[in-house]
Amino acid sequence: MRTQLVAGNWKMYKTNQEAVELVSGLASLVEGLGGVEVAVCPPFTSLADVSRSLHELGSGMALGAQNVYPRSEGAFTGEISPPMLKALGVTYVIVGHSERREILGEKDDFVAAKVRAVLDEGMTPILCVGETLEEREAGGALGKVEGQLDADLANVRPEEASALVIAYEPIWAIGTGKTATPADAQEMNSFIRGRLAAMFGEATADKVRVLYGGSVKPENAAELMAMPDIDGALVGGASLKAEDFAAIVRAAS
Ligand code: PGA
Repeated sequence: MRTQLVAGNWKMYKTNQEAVELVSGLASLVEGLGGVEVAVCPPFTSLADVSRSLHELGSGMALGAQNVYPRSEGAFTGEISPPMLKALGVTYVIVGHSERREILGEKDDFVAAKVRAVLDEGMTPILCVGETLEEREAGGALGKVEGQLDADLANVRPEEASALVIAYEPIWAIGTGKTATPADAQEMNSFIRGRLAAMFGEATADKVRVLYGGSVKPENAAELMAMPDIDGALVGGASLKAEDFAAIVRAAS
């Protein structure tokens, strides 16, 4: 049985003080909800204080980062290394988010290096994959995602693959209010699991959590997460309001 994971991607929102307030509000709302793992991914600037708050509150929520640079240290101005994240109590790292691919121009080989670096530090990558609207309309959605999985997971060994988290995030559904239908999301998530089975074996693929992301809200969370191959959600906009995020966690629990 896979435990559902609901992860909040706060993107470039919340000052440090606001982040600490959000996480304290959230902690009380999700306390005691069983059968689901919850993670928050604040901006780098508030990882340390959010980590401290989680500890002080005795919260079981996990801490995630939104990005990483795939080297342990060095002359990489403005970048943050895996050991720096690990030292703050980070256990999840979002890798290959479409905003980084599209806005910052990150390519698959760079994403693959990040996946490797996160695993090497003993943390879990949340690898984001997904197609644009044009690709979907041209019938290329599965092919696009297959290519991303093959390239981005090229450096992963079969024995470490079961710990991976994959998030299917159709680009046209991110921040647009348009959600994939549960059936469309299920189709892609099942395809992703099939691809993982081909790469790493069926038993391993069965253990990998495959999330859905893209305009997940309290109103649509339950029907999405009821699908057999949707093992949770990566939530952007709705993770910035404690009540909304808690409602999504409740839907998963
Ligand atoms: P959204 O973002 O929930 O605001 O659509 C999801 C994401 O980008 O991870």
